[in-house]
Amino acid sequence: MAAMDVRSGLHPQTTAPWWREAVFYQIYPRSFADSDGDGVGDLRGIFSRLDYLAGTERSLGVDAIWLSPFFKSPMVDGGYDVADHCAVDPVFGTLDDFDALVAEAHRRGLRVIVDLVVNHTSDQHPWFLESRSSRASAKRSWYVWRPGRDGGPPNNWCSEFGGPAWTYDPATDEWYLHSFAPQQPDLNWDEPAVEAAMHEVMRFWLRRGVDGFRVDVVHKIGKDPLLRDNLGTFVGPSHHRPGHRFDEDWPSVHPRLRRMRRVVKEFGERMMVGEVYLLDQAAMAMYVRWDDELDLAHNFHFMNLPWSADLIRTAVCELDRLLEPRGWPTWCLNNHDHPRVASRYPGEAAARLSAVLLLTLRGTPFLYQGEELGLRDGAIPEEQRVDVAGRDPARCPLPWEPPSVAGPGAGFTAGNPWLPIAPDAETRAVSRQLDDPQSVLSLYRALLALRRREPALRVGSMAVFDGTGPVLAYRRGVPTASLLVLLNFDGQPATVRAADVGRLAIRGTIEVSTTMDDLGRGVEAPEVELGPFEGLVLREA
Ligand code: GLC
Repeated sequence: MAAMDVRSGLHPQTTAPWWREAVFYQIYPRSFADSDGDGVGDLRGIFSRLDYLAGTERSLGVDAIWLSPFFKSPMVDGGYDVADHCAVDPVFGTLDDFDALVAEAHRRGLRVIVDLVVNHTSDQHPWFLESRSSRASAKRSWYVWRPGRDGGPPNNWCSEFGGPAWTYDPATDEWYLHSFAPQQPDLNWDEPAVEAAMHEVMRFWLRRGVDGFRVDVVHKIGKDPLLRDNLGTFVGPSHHRPGHRFDEDWPSVHPRLRRMRRVVKEFGERMMVGEVYLLDQAAMAMYVRWDDELDLAHNFHFMNLPWSADLIRTAVCELDRLLEPRGWPTWCLNNHDHPRVASRYPGEAAARLSAVLLLTLRGTPFLYQGEELGLRDGAIPEEQRVDVAGRDPARCPLPWEPPSVAGPGAGFTAGNPWLPIAPDAETRAVSRQLDDPQSVLSLYRALLALRRREPALRVGSMAVFDGTGPVLAYRRGVPTASLLVLLNFDGQPATVRAADVGRLAIRGTIEVSTTMDDLGRGVEAPEVELGPFEGLVLREA
């Protein structure tokens, strides 16, 4: 037995900021609930389903929602191409709908954060239309315009969606930069007026009562001002993503984040979580700076790990060493850009095991709608594909009821859903799982309830053990309670001996198990055998 890392954790008696103890739930508004039958989810739809999330006995019991973009947009990139940061796209409703949603969420104690798309806008945004209109335009410098090089683009940077990151604009005989689709020109953050405008966007939503922001591709708001060519893949040790030496994570990003933090602070206890899409935990951890830069950062190294107790153990312990002493981890395995857990790992078993993992690790968990149902990716026929980058399968509308009961819209819509309803709607619909004590949804609710009543899980210390083979084993504790978490990542049974976890005997009560059997059963044994992919949370005696 070796405890690889022991953190003292926050003292439970200190008042932790709300986002440390919260569980966030990401809503992809197009696919959550449709109130008007046009086949696309909307803000009123979300309003109508708040009971599902918080405020009643039967609710899931999350603490905060993150709304993916609902702003005015031509929808080339699912709304991440914003044409007006301060307006609601009519397909999602109105600002009044938004205000009503925030008020009702807050009444239930549910916080609301919104997506802040800072790196780029839509090419239909008035700022870009003006910038593009002439080289002499007052907003020319708001975007990144350059003459071509040898008849081609100004440098070798590539778009995340493939192809060059530059598009030629014959009207002014220059090229503009776009890290994503050509319809998403990058803002020029070296231009102070851009930064000031984005601060105003933040204030607009903060004044409307949002509790914070998820900042989209925030590592991209600092780029080499010289726009040097990116290097190839095999150029010495570097924390940069291959091929991204100069087009992201430039040091200028940090003072920019600090200034964003100051804006957020004008409004009291609000927060920022960044989509810091760097695959290196050390680089990502630099963005998490208490009261200074980001509060939290999504961890894409973790999200991209293969299904392995060893690799997860290493990542968890490594991040613990990399974060500044008051830094706080964030755990997330799904979002609207990635294949779902139940599809990329071993099916429902993985959905169950990852539920226990996410909700018992030391840090703030982010869940993505449908994860709590164990949903798989949809199979999208060629002619129904919508997304520019093939990410539709994780975006299928949520099944609220089985189609056999509610018709083909599965309670998501009375009309034709914009993408096929999520697969397994018949068996995995919310209404099918709510009253089934063994469902994935019931497992999530049990874990969330346990987390709510147990400070050891929210703010306690964590000791991670090695030498437990395919089992990820850790202990969460506060002076008054100790919880042992055992997660078998293998499809074979596995044994954990008491000595492996620093005890003479494994003794306690099962609080939660992935099978939802045996809850409340006492255990007292020199070793515990876990079934294939079984996970247990044991309250130690
Ligand atoms: C983020 C979003 C993704 C979007 C991209 C460009 O990665 O999560 O959906 O395509 O930013 O805005």
